[in-house]
Amino acid sequence: MITQELKNIVGDRNVLTGKDVRDRQEDWGRDKPCLAMALVRPGSTEEVSRVLAACHKVGQTAVTHGGRTGLAQGAVSTADDIILSLERLTGIERIDAQNRTMTVWAGTPLQKVQEAAADIDLHFALDLGARGSATIGGTIATNAGGLSVIRYGMMREQVLGLEAVLADGTVVTSLNELIKNNSGYDLKQLFIGSEGTLGIVTRATLRLRPAYTDYNTALLATSSYDDMITILHSLDHDMAGSLLAFEVMWQNFYQVVTGPNSGRKPPISGEYPYYILIEGAVINRERDQEYFQDLLMGLMERGFIADAVIAKSNTERQSLWDLREDTESIFNLGPMINFDISLPLGDIPDYLVRVEGEIGQHWPEATFIQFGHLGDNNLHLSISIDDACPEAQKKVKNIVYGSLTRFHGAVSAEHGIGLEKISYLSLCRSETEIALMRCLKTAFDPKGILNPGKIIAKGT
Ligand code: LAC
Ligand code: ZN
Repeated sequence: MITQELKNIVGDRNVLTGKDVRDRQEDWGRDKPCLAMALVRPGSTEEVSRVLAACHKVGQTAVTHGGRTGLAQGAVSTADDIILSLERLTGIERIDAQNRTMTVWAGTPLQKVQEAAADIDLHFALDLGARGSATIGGTIATNAGGLSVIRYGMMREQVLGLEAVLADGTVVTSLNELIKNNSGYDLKQLFIGSEGTLGIVTRATLRLRPAYTDYNTALLATSSYDDMITILHSLDHDMAGSLLAFEVMWQNFYQVVTGPNSGRKPPISGEYPYYILIEGAVINRERDQEYFQDLLMGLMERGFIADAVIAKSNTERQSLWDLREDTESIFNLGPMINFDISLPLGDIPDYLVRVEGEIGQHWPEATFIQFGHLGDNNLHLSISIDDACPEAQKKVKNIVYGSLTRFHGAVSAEHGIGLEKISYLSLCRSETEIALMRCLKTAFDPKGILNPGKIIAKGT
């Protein structure tokens, strides 16, 4: 019944069923068939509105699909849901180079937005490995983080306004183009990071920044965690706002991505416990390069940097980034359980000793890989144990998430809660906070039709 109504709204060829739905991937690395009654591809905000109004009338649940690279099972559906794919809502609607803003449709891939900004000598400041597939709508729905948060903040900081469709089909067009606008509640913030549970983002007005087309990029090795923090603070200060990236790889990560199976030659020997990929913006090549080299030299003379390689060309820069972005090699090491957690910077070593110690007691052969956006408190931890049974996997999660509480850590730094971390939200958010989240959900989506069961578990 609902399928026919949806066909009337978006046209027969924009409602997929059967194998066309099953073959869709719902999340990066997930190989289960995609389940849904139908997949609907609206072609305008009005069609999204009519689809949701039809769903709302009969209590039909809807899961939204963007690029499906979120890694937290936020786009996973059941056979009772319909999927609302925003793949036809693409394109750049308006660019205002003077005001440095761009209004785009939600289904536009992140990379297309980056390229469109570069075409007018500006910069769109969110960047992550999945840039080719991740969409603007998805990065808004998940408040994506990535590789330049240390300089520009998360997606929340890049969005000035947006348009969202509420559960009952009401369209809220709030395409603010102003950096400062304190005229009442900042409604867009409710949708950013709501993982499709409060409304469906259809368009967004994005903030653009000055473009840098030249960079100082280096890979550093350091002998201790405390030295790594000293390097971070020192560069953050001395580079006066031009530090664009500070990505840390533990030795085990580095050894995998430069190891015999990687086909790469390690730019620095693999003997150090920590490797840091840093990047700075360059305005004046001669002046900034010399200054950058002097900073690194100074840190080396003081013993904080143990070894370093500076990229001498764009190709060398890219090959350093390829190391950091090769998370596929980590996730494919075996059946890995991947974590995306946040902790105070100084507590990370203590936290890891506890977690690895406890897991080691149960599974002495366990493998641990650590990397992350340490300048943003964000630790990625991948663990593999020699036991695929669900209880064992759950026990690992209980240890990793449970150990965060004493450090006031967060169970998700950037990927979000989705379905994956649903039973752990209460470890880092209070009862009062969760009650307020529930209150918002009920106000926005009284029938619970939007991305059901995500973020807040039923009955918690
Ligand atoms: C990264 C993903 C895993 O940082 O968030 O590569
Ligand atoms: Zn990350």
